[in-house]
Amino acid sequence: ANKLGSKKERTLAMIKPDAVTKVGSIIQMVYDAGLIVTKAKMTKLTGKQAADFYMEHQSKSFFNNLVQFVSSGPIIVMELMGDEAVSVWRKVLGPTDSGVARKDAPASLRAQFGTDGTKNAGHGSDSLASAARELEFFFPSTAGHGPTNTAKYQDS
Ligand code: TYD
Ligand code: MG
Repeated sequence: ANKLGSKKERTLAMIKPDAVTKVGSIIQMVYDAGLIVTKAKMTKLTGKQAADFYMEHQSKSFFNNLVQFVSSGPIIVMELMGDEAVSVWRKVLGPTDSGVARKDAPASLRAQFGTDGTKNAGHGSDSLASAARELEFFFPSTAGHGPTNTAKYQDS
């Protein structure tokens, strides 16, 4: 925490294939939540890459549907940064099931742009440890990366 007591975090946000056309509105939601976009790219996952990304769910009944959906078209992945970015972004997403989100959090991203419990428009890391793994998955920290936008979030 810095001297104001805030906790700057980074998290991995994904716009899933069903919501890529809503990227403008979704990036507005990022900024409205007080977060900034520090890395971004559009890409498409193979089934194998999607299975690797979601390997914590490999034993679940919904795993094959999830992998099929998330590899079905282009996605946009972003590194978001800001105070408590992990939980703030999860709150912007809303409940996992878009049907539940429309009842319990109608302004949330999943309420507005998702369809059901699988086609749910977005992803957010669920912990700092997941964020570290997921950011490394999409933005490996080898060398030769392009510009970033971290200046306003340096402590001291
Ligand atoms: P999960 O990590 O539980 O949810 P979240 O994305 O909110 O962290 O599940 C990962 C994804 O798996 C979820 O976004 C959509 C899909 N999924 C299903 O298709 N069916 C389900 O019953 C659940 C729980 C998840
Ligand atoms: Mg999850």
